[in-house]
Amino acid sequence: MKKMTSAELRSAFLEFFRQRGHAIEASSSLIPANDPTLLFTNAGMVQFKDVFLGREQREFTKAATSQRCVRAGGKHNDLENVGYTARHHTFFEMLGNFSFGDYFKKEAIHFAWDFLTQELEIPAEKLWVTVFEEDAEAEAIWLEDVGIDKNRFSKIGAKDNFWSMGDTGPCGPCTEIFYDHGEHIAGGPPGTPEEDGDRYIEVWNLVFMQYDRDIDGTLTPLPKPSVDTGMGLERIAAVLQGVHSNYEIDLFQSVLTVAAKLANTTDLNQSSLRVIADHIRSCAFLITDGVMPSNEGRGYVSRRIIRRAIRHGYRLGIQDVFFYQLVAPLVKEMGEAFPELKAAQAQVERVLQKEEQRFAETLGQGMKILEVFQVM
Ligand code: SER
Repeated sequence: MKKMTSAELRSAFLEFFRQRGHAIEASSSLIPANDPTLLFTNAGMVQFKDVFLGREQREFTKAATSQRCVRAGGKHNDLENVGYTARHHTFFEMLGNFSFGDYFKKEAIHFAWDFLTQELEIPAEKLWVTVFEEDAEAEAIWLEDVGIDKNRFSKIGAKDNFWSMGDTGPCGPCTEIFYDHGEHIAGGPPGTPEEDGDRYIEVWNLVFMQYDRDIDGTLTPLPKPSVDTGMGLERIAAVLQGVHSNYEIDLFQSVLTVAAKLANTTDLNQSSLRVIADHIRSCAFLITDGVMPSNEGRGYVSRRIIRRAIRHGYRLGIQDVFFYQLVAPLVKEMGEAFPELKAAQAQVERVLQKEEQRFAETLGQGMKILEVFQVM
């Protein structure tokens, strides 16, 4: 298996799909454009929603992106898990390739398998595949065409293998690829009672976009069957960097090191540090994209995330206003891939500093202690 930094991986992914005729598009904002049905951009397909629905035409029929995503609040809310599992984040980058009525299941599956096993050289015996239980076509492509081991394959129901963007909008059956982090980690293959452990981690979800779901749940076929895939950059980087937890990859190291210094600790594996390292990413990018902490809507989610991070700072014994100090190390790690973050650095620092001072002032000392140990 190749060893790669997150930046190398991001480039390798985009280049692989560029060579296969995909337009490389920039990440869109975390605020979905003209879409009141969605709180935040929670997947790579969000900027292409109207293209899938046939309401908008682009000059390409295939695209690939590395999309910044937030999953906190609304559907796909991971907030409470963050810091306590190896793989949940409020903010992450999703690598994705998309077909708008161009290729469908067969090519999408081959692209994904080739990228993982040939480009990244991940051994096939470390991978596990699932398909939607009613999708005989995808099953045949995997077992007969690609020829994967049927002992590393399972069929799953709609709960996990039918993907929807939100309560309404484009959706369809999916096939997922998992990486087996090894026997030393608790957890069983997908579809077994032990599946919730951290051993088998989903790395890539290939959605076969076929329907538009309306508010009553009625599924109307899309004008053209399409493909929407998503692979969490942090998860696949963990695989290539030989670490189990996403927090051990290169992208988190500067932030974790500075946070640990502020907390006067050398143990980088503490949950509270991980919460803080995760949350600075969502908070900084939300502010970059214009979501200011407030008492309603998107701003309220941002305020909750900031406060959760601050509580975890208190829990670690940090006494000073600290959260804004993590913006600089974050910019160091991510400023090149996201120039908009770099450009907004001073403003992000100001907003976070003010928000933390305000939070600290509203809390009496006694309250502070109570808050720290509640609602983590
Ligand atoms: N939209 C799908 C997901 O978020 C695939 O990108 O998992």
